[in-house]
Amino acid sequence: MTTTSSGQKLSRSQLRSRIEKLPRMRIAHLPTPLEEMPRLSAELDGPRIFVKREDMTGLAYGGNKARHYDFEMPHIRDEDYDTVINIMDYHSNNARMTAAAANKTGLRYVLILKNAAHRNVQGNLLIDKLLGAELHLLDQFQSETADDYASKLKEKLESEGAKPYLVQEHLFPRIVGMVGFVEAGLELLDQIEELGLQNVHIYGVAGRSLCGLILAARNLGLDWKFTGVQVTYDPPLDEYIFDHNDDIKELLDLPATFSHADMPVLTQYVGEGYGIMTPEVVEAIHVAARTDAIICDPNYTGTVMAALIDQIRQGNQGADETVIFLHTGGLPAVFTFADQLAGYSEG
Ligand SMILES: Cc1ncc(COP(=O)(O)O)c(C=O)c1O
Repeated sequence: MTTTSSGQKLSRSQLRSRIEKLPRMRIAHLPTPLEEMPRLSAELDGPRIFVKREDMTGLAYGGNKARHYDFEMPHIRDEDYDTVINIMDYHSNNARMTAAAANKTGLRYVLILKNAAHRNVQGNLLIDKLLGAELHLLDQFQSETADDYASKLKEKLESEGAKPYLVQEHLFPRIVGMVGFVEAGLELLDQIEELGLQNVHIYGVAGRSLCGLILAARNLGLDWKFTGVQVTYDPPLDEYIFDHNDDIKELLDLPATFSHADMPVLTQYVGEGYGIMTPEVVEAIHVAARTDAIICDPNYTGTVMAALIDQIRQGNQGADETVIFLHTGGLPAVFTFADQLAGYSEG
C-alpha cells in the first residue's frame, strides 16, 4: 500500500464517518456484486476481469445514479423544494433515475428533454413516461436554448406557488455523484480483500463515479490503478470533473483529492460523439453479452468495454493486473438503439 500524495491517510471508519455526516436516504440496493467474467478473459486471452455491478442498484433499471440520489434527494427535500426540474438528452439514464428518485421522495418532476420531439417512445423515454415525469420534449432547434426554456418554466412554476429546484443551477448535483462512489470504494475494498485480488486496475467512464473510487483509494492509501474512458466531448472533462476536485475535498473534509495524474484518460473511443455508437461499441456489447451475459449500454459502458477489449488486444493491458470493469448501468438505452444492435453479425 502507498500513502496519499499529502502523506495523510484515513482509516476505513474515518472515511465512512465523513460520508455519514451527510443527510441520507436509502434508495440504492447495496452492496452491489463484484462478479468475475472468466469467459471474457478466455476469449481475449487476457488478464482476470471482474465487473462491479452498479447496473444492479435497483431504482427503475439501476445504474450509478441510485447512489447519488441516496444523498441528493434528502439535500433537495431538506431545503424545502417541492419540484425538481432537469434538462437532459432524450435517451438519458440520469433523466430516468431522477424520475424514479423523485417519485420515491414524493417530489414533482419536470423533465426537459433535448432532441426528443418525434422520437419513438422507447428505452429511458418510455420509463420516464411510466414514472409520470412531466415531459417537455424539445426539437433540435429548441434544444439549443434549453437553458432559457428551463429558466422560463421555473419562473412560471414559481409564479404558481411552487418551489422548483433546477438541477443545472446548483453545485451539489455536480459533486454528489462522487460521494456515493467514495462509499462504493469502501465496499469494493472489502470485496477485493475477500477474493484476495492483487494489482487492481479499474476501468470506467471518465466521470464522477470513477473519481469517487479514486478518492476512496487516495484517502485510504491504496495502490489501485485507474483508467478513465472518455465517452463524450461535451462538457470538457476539466469542467465536468477535474475542476471539482476541491469542492468534493471540502464537502467531505478529506486530506487528499484527485488530479489528472490519478486518472489517465483514453480519449480515442468517443467516435463521432455522445449518442452515436461506433462499430467497436456494437461489437463490445455483443462480446460481453455472449461471454459472461453482461449487458452494456450504447453510450457509456459499451464504450468502456470497447476500450478495455481494444487495450487487451493491443497488448497494453498487463497480464499480471486484475481488471475491474465499473459497470455504471444504462440498460434501457439498448432498446433505443435496438435496430443498430440487432443488425450486428460477427465478422
Ligand atoms: C450509464 C452511465 N454511466 C456513466 C455515467 C457517467 O456518470 P458519472 O459522471 O456520474 O460517473 C452516466 C451518466 O449519466 C451513465 O448514464
